[in-house]
Amino acid sequence: MPTISRFTILLTLITTIFLPSSTPDQKDESCLTHLFNSFQDPAGNLHNWTKPTFQNPCSDFTSNLAGATCNNGRIYKLSLQNLNLHGSISPYISNCTNLQSLDLSNNSLTGIIPGELQFLVNLAVLNLSSNRLSGEIPPSLPMCIYLNVIDLHNNLLSGGIPAQIGSLVRLSAFDVSDNKLSGLIPASLGNRSGNLGGFNASSYSGNKGLYGYPLGPMKSNGLSVLAIVGIGLGSGLLSLALSFTVVCVWLRAAERRTAAEQEVKISRSMPDY
Ligand SMILES: *[C@@H]1O[C@H](CO)[C@@H](O)[C@H](O)[C@H]1NC(C)=O
Ligand SMILES: *[C@@H]1O[C@H](CO)[C@@H](O)[C@H](O)[C@H]1NC(C)=O
Ligand SMILES: *[C@@H]1O[C@H](CO)[C@@H](O)[C@H](O)[C@H]1NC(C)=O
Ligand SMILES: *[C@@H]1O[C@H](CO)[C@@H](O)[C@H](O)[C@H]1NC(C)=O
Ligand SMILES: *[C@@H]1O[C@H](CO)[C@@H](O)[C@H](O)[C@H]1NC(C)=O
Ligand SMILES: *[C@@H]1O[C@H](CO)[C@@H](O)[C@H](O)[C@H]1NC(C)=O
Repeated sequence: MPTISRFTILLTLITTIFLPSSTPDQKDESCLTHLFNSFQDPAGNLHNWTKPTFQNPCSDFTSNLAGATCNNGRIYKLSLQNLNLHGSISPYISNCTNLQSLDLSNNSLTGIIPGELQFLVNLAVLNLSSNRLSGEIPPSLPMCIYLNVIDLHNNLLSGGIPAQIGSLVRLSAFDVSDNKLSGLIPASLGNRSGNLGGFNASSYSGNKGLYGYPLGPMKSNGLSVLAIVGIGLGSGLLSLALSFTVVCVWLRAAERRTAAEQEVKISRSMPDY
């Protein structure tokens, strides 16, 4: 009896230790299922992304899902660009823990860039360009220390650029142009030089509120105090002049009316001969 229970304990131990690694695609299944549910696919480009294929997306060494590539039985690349995808990016993307390359560029995705991307510790390529993503660049994104490519151009992203992006030693392509980003370009990124290649102004252009090297200094954004005072004074004077004119015209008209009435009265009071 004790031997059996010891055997059972041993078996349980072995199972708990080795089972997770023997069914690694459970995480991928969760990732793909949630991702598929968060996307909208009006063009039917993901028609073979079906539930049964999520359960074992990497059978036969390759993936049966359009745009997905496998390595060692795990999804390591998602290339879903130019597919007219709508909807958003599920935070469960982080369950594709072996993902090295995520390209969702040139779709119509909305919503935020999930901060959970930070859990994709192997991520080297992130291309989310030409979508309608809004919100901030996740400050935790630089936790993905192997990032080579960050291409987020042509979205609706706002807020500042996280300074830690500048310390990503492998970063060789960086583009946040044509967004709504604002604030000072962190010097750690803008002034990268030497071994860490820097990025020229074209990586930052098309963001009205962004300034600092390699873009220009902060523009006197909007109107100066003097201009505001001037406009206030000017419009005040203008409205004063306008109301004065209106009163004058009204008075003139009233004057004419009384004059005409008096004339009528006079003509009526005149006796007929
Ligand atoms: C899924 O679709 C892609 C592209 O449309 C195709 O290359 C692939 O062979 C399809 N897979 C299956 C299992 O039908
Ligand atoms: C973006 O995708 C559309 C199809 O949805 C395609 O016609 C266009 O050429 C793509 N643009 C780029 C730059 O790849
Ligand atoms: C899957 O992703 C969700 C959302 O990010 C997270 O809460 C959950 O812990 C992840 N599960 C695994 C197994 O990584
Ligand atoms: C990101 O994707 C766009 C559109 O698919 C492509 O034109 C661009 O070259 C990609 N960026 C990088 C750095 O490869
Ligand atoms: C960044 O580099 C520019 C041009 O070389 C220089 O004018 C600026 O002072 C530098 N900024 C910082 C914070 O080092
Ligand atoms: C900026 O850098 C890109 C490559 O990162 C290059 O294609 C482009 O010509 C450069 N532009 C200028 C004005 O130097």
